Formats: sequence, structure tokens, C-alpha cells
Amino acid sequence: MKKIFSLLSAAMMLAACSNNPKQDSKVTVTEPILKEKFKNNFLIGTVLAADQAFGRDSLTINIAKKHFNALTAENCMKPEIIDKEKGKYDFSEGDLVVDFAKKNNMYMIGHVLIWHEQSPKWFWVDEQGNPLKPEVMKQNMKEFITATVEHYKGKVDAWDVVNETFNDDGTLRETPYYKILGEEYLKLAFQYAHEADPNAKLIFNDYNVSKPEKCDAIIKKINELKSQGCQIDYVGMQMHSTMTFPTIEQLETSLKKFEDNGIKVQITEFDLTAIPFPEGNTADITAKADYKDTYDPYRNGLTDSARNALNNRFNDIFECFVRHSANIERVTVWGITDKGSWRQDWPIKGRTDFPTLFYSDGKMKEFLCK
Ligand code: XIL
Repeated sequence: MKKIFSLLSAAMMLAACSNNPKQDSKVTVTEPILKEKFKNNFLIGTVLAADQAFGRDSLTINIAKKHFNALTAENCMKPEIIDKEKGKYDFSEGDLVVDFAKKNNMYMIGHVLIWHEQSPKWFWVDEQGNPLKPEVMKQNMKEFITATVEHYKGKVDAWDVVNETFNDDGTLRETPYYKILGEEYLKLAFQYAHEADPNAKLIFNDYNVSKPEKCDAIIKKINELKSQGCQIDYVGMQMHSTMTFPTIEQLETSLKKFEDNGIKVQITEFDLTAIPFPEGNTADITAKADYKDTYDPYRNGLTDSARNALNNRFNDIFECFVRHSANIERVTVWGITDKGSWRQDWPIKGRTDFPTLFYSDGKMKEFLCK
């Protein structure tokens, strides 16, 4: 009986999404508008990459406008783009994204200020390649954060101030900032950002935040920084997820811990890989593996059972977000359609994955259409 039921619900799930109810013989549910569907729960966000910001990809631009009410620049507001050569700021691409957000009434997130990736080396070494003296590094951080946050003052609602500062075991990551300044760099980053725009909300962002040791360490650190006078408005949970991690229990437990500690949550980079993930649970952008056919099982399309499993997993995660929505301000999905997702090339180049809320042809994932 149970089996029959699950087969039936699988069929319903697969048939449920339609752009055109007349053509759908089984179920006539049209695609909802996501920002309306979740309006009583949280903001629903997406990312713009260069193609969309420059108007080169109308399919995804239209989806972004229609369905999402929060926006993050996927790459063009990272330090390596904004301040590649020290002090020579280039806000041109970031401005396009921010203008897009403004025109379309979207909550705008600045991503990202202090991160050990996608940042130019001058942040931490001198021209000879020697590590900077602490005072010089502090000055560099202050100049960059001040110039960037002031440039976007009144236009960016919230900043990812620090990114990926913890290891999964709950110790602080040995980034160049940590090595030169110790943990003080976290406090300084929030202090400089707040001074540059006292109205902006500030986010403490990381991946694998549902890992218990990491979650506890982040809570401890946020509480400590707050008690020292730092403004930290949200923990940012990236949530680059797999079919098995985080488990709903892990996710639920971490969300509860944040609630109990009075720490509001933003889900900042959600995506869900449907294919094997050989690197273990990580979102480290430097992770790499060699291509193998077995790592790319759906290059000719999802099988029905894989499509169903993927939709069920998406559904379980979103139901968990909704259950905790009183403490979740925003859920951002890292990619508009599957085609544009970074997962197609990370950690293995040239695979076919299905990590966003829209298939590559622009059709919505079925789980949303019930
Ligand atoms: C990713 C982008 O999506 C890719 O286009 C880029 O090549 C690498 O960075 N954590 C983050 C994001 O905070 O900035 C990363 O974005 C994904 C992992």
C-alpha cells in the first residue's frame, strides 16, 4: 500500500508543474509566483551573473524579475573585481546589478567584503610577497570596506561582511587575515562596515553551518562579538547542499539553536546537487576532482526516479525553512536556472546538474507547484 502511495505521489509530483494548464492532461496547477508563494515566510532571492547584468540572457532575467524579491551579485561585487588594483575601484558591474535590484524592488545583498578567496593578494602581502604588518592590513581592510560600503550606502540592504571564517570542526580558519591579525579581524570587519553605513544590516556568512561543531562555534563567536559592541544582524547559512547533507534533523537543530540564541538567519546561497559529490561536504571553491562518467549520471536528462528524489529532497528542505520562517529573513538560491549554476563546473568541469529552482529550459521544479 505504502509503495502504491509513493508511486502515485511520484506521478503527481512529476506532472504537477505547468506553464500552460490546457496542455497538461493530468494536473492543472500553474507555476506559482515564488515571491507570492513565500510572501508570508521569507524573501526569496537569486543571483545575477555578468550575462544577466549585461542583458544578454533574457530567459533568466525574466525569471529573476518575475519570481524573486532579493538579489545578490554572483561575482561582480567581490574584492577581486571591485578593487583588483589597490585603491582603483571599479564599481561598474556591481552598479548594474544594484540598479537592477532597485528597478525591480528587490532587497539587495552586497557579497562580499572579507574573504580569503576571490580577493587580490595586496590585501595580505606586500609587493615583495611578504606578509603585511598588522597595521597595514588593518588600514587596507578599512579603506576597502569604507570605500565599498559608502559607495553603495542606501542601495545595499545587507552585507556579507565576513565569509567562510570557520573550519568544520569549529576552529577558526587560518586565513591570511587570521594569521596576521588573529581573531581581531572579525571584529574590525564588522566595525568598519557599520561605520561606513550604520543603516546596513550585517551578515556573518559561512558554509556547512549545520555541522554541530561549526554551528556552536559560530554562535559563540557572534555572541562574543555582539557583547563587544559589534552589530551583527544575521548568520548567513550558505547551504550548498547535497542529497544527504545536511540532514533535515541537522538543519532543524541548527535553526533551533539560532532561534534560542536570538540570532536571525538568512539562507544566503542555497543550491542542491542531484549528482555524486566526490569531494565530501564542502563549498570550498578550490575543491576539484577529475571527470568520470559515473560522476555525471544525468548528462542525458534526469530519470523519473532521480527527478522524484530530487524534488522530494527540495521539498523537505523548503518545508523545514517554512517551519522556521519566523526566524528566517531570506532564502536565496545560488543560480536562476540550472544551466547557469556554478555547480555545472564545480568541483568537476562540464557536468549536468539540477541545483536551482528552475530547469535549464526555464520550467519550475515540480515540488513548488502544489
Ligand atoms: C562562486 C560563483 O558562483 C562562481 O561563479 C565562482 O567561480 C566561484 O564562486 N561560496 C560563496 C560564493 O560565498 O561567492 C561562491 O560563488 C560559491 C561558494
